Amino acid sequence: MRPRDRLRIAMQKSGRLTEPAQDLLTRCGFTFRQSRDKLFCFGEGEPVDLLLVRDDDIPGLIAQGVCDLGIVGRNVLNEYELTTGRDDAVALAEWRGLGFGRCRLSLAVPQELDYAGVADLAGKRIATSYPGLLGRWLRERGIDAGVVTLAGSVEIAPRLGTADAICDLVQSGGTLLANQLREADVVLESEALLVGPRTLPADERGDLVELLLKRIDGVIQVRE
Ligand code: PRP
Ligand code: ZN
Ligand code: MG
Repeated sequence: MRPRDRLRIAMQKSGRLTEPAQDLLTRCGFTFRQSRDKLFCFGEGEPVDLLLVRDDDIPGLIAQGVCDLGIVGRNVLNEYELTTGRDDAVALAEWRGLGFGRCRLSLAVPQELDYAGVADLAGKRIATSYPGLLGRWLRERGIDAGVVTLAGSVEIAPRLGTADAICDLVQSGGTLLANQLREADVVLESEALLVGPRTLPADERGDLVELLLKRIDGVIQVRE
């Protein structure tokens, strides 16, 4: 990877983290101009640019050195850590919890299904986009259940008959309600994180990370 003299931060292109993440950086005093293809935002003052991508790709982009930092949910970071082969998994650190994008990764069952506890999941098929986190949670509880991995639209799996339950993100609960599902158990509490490699780059980018962290801490303090 060619050394870069500008800091590059990956963030979600469109989704629940996009607006609050851009808002945070604006409050930190960074201003950007968006490229025509909407993939990049070029920093106008400090040499700090944004790369707008799918949230699921962010940990990998940092691990590969394509980006220096990322703003991504704990759910995505932990799933990456659990499912990526050891060779590829550069140790990533949670630099800061950002306090927005709060949601939970939860088990949900059809409204009419009884759920007294995790033992009721034994032998059931559970649809999820988080096989790593769900698999670990089930293993820790000694539950043998089938995990059906889907990239999206997990909430319709019970109606299609391809799963008995789901494990997906819940924020307002609107998606569950619309699909006649109810939250049964919480697997992970999540929020947006500033994520980066465990060691700072040893060039100007390291100084920029320190500047960014200082400003983020200031913004978070004001908000609290
Ligand atoms: C999640 C989840 C549900 C929705 C739940 O998707 O898959 O579709 O949010 O939110 P609610 O409880 O407020 O209805 P999200 O768009 O975050 O992520 P994805 O596009 O990466 O699946
Ligand atoms: Zn996603
Ligand atoms: Mg979704």
